Amino acid sequence: MKKIAAIILSAIIILSLAACSSDGQQGESSPAPSSSSSQTPSPSASSNTNESTVGETFQEEETDGGNILIAYFSVPETDGVDTVAGASRVVVDGEVLGNNQYLAYLIQQEVGGDLFRIETVQEYPGSHDTLLDFAYDEKAENARPELATQIQNLDNYNVIFLGFPNWNSDLPMPLYTFLEEYDFSGKTIVPFTAHGGSGFSRTIQTIEELQPNATVVEDGLSISRNSVADAQSDVTSWISELDVIQ
Ligand SMILES: Cc1cc2nc3c(=O)[nH]c(=O)nc-3n(C[C@H](O)[C@H](O)[C@H](O)COP(=O)(O)O)c2cc1C
Repeated sequence: MKKIAAIILSAIIILSLAACSSDGQQGESSPAPSSSSSQTPSPSASSNTNESTVGETFQEEETDGGNILIAYFSVPETDGVDTVAGASRVVVDGEVLGNNQYLAYLIQQEVGGDLFRIETVQEYPGSHDTLLDFAYDEKAENARPELATQIQNLDNYNVIFLGFPNWNSDLPMPLYTFLEEYDFSGKTIVPFTAHGGSGFSRTIQTIEELQPNATVVEDGLSISRNSVADAQSDVTSWISELDVIQ
């Protein structure tokens, strides 16, 4: 009987040792987690996928508006705004934008394309009354303020949205410099303005005179500065009726 018990006990010990040894082998093959960790590239592969999706979307947007340039001149009045004269600024997420600058952004949201800010070497005063005097003197002198920004690759664009404030019932003088400096022959110019009540005055005709070989859309967008902050739907419906970007 003792012999039988000893044999059974030995068998149990041998089986237990075999089981331990098998566990140990599993432990050593813990490269399994490491093989799953070697699969960790998979999330980053999926994030690569996301990146390429974002990249593709971005490229599509560029292609959609690839032939469109949105050029604008705008002087946000950054000091306390004269409530009689009305505001020449829009505040978006804490950022102060000029009225025409804001319209340019809304247009870009609709049509894509590239934004181009027409800037001058001489900065304009941000204070309303000083700006009025400054601009009045420039007009009286028929000045051509030197531009500080230049369009790269004008050949890439065939539709030029052109935004500016009505200043003294005319184009701001930097717009004369701009329109005399570039040749938009064969291109389409689409004017837009945020103004203080006069609309475009004669500015569209002046653009036609300065760019006789361009097509100038006469049905430009004209928005009172009092309505600029709510102009999104006006921009959307104006764009939807423009033939040039259909
Ligand atoms: C120097 C100056 C002259 C202006 N002259 C006129 C004008 O003759 N007619 C008009 O409707 N608005 C006039 N305005 C108002 C601007 O057209 C209006 O505030 C515009 O929205 C400013 O645009 P911005 O913020 O993009 O510069 C004048 C504003 C300034 C600063």
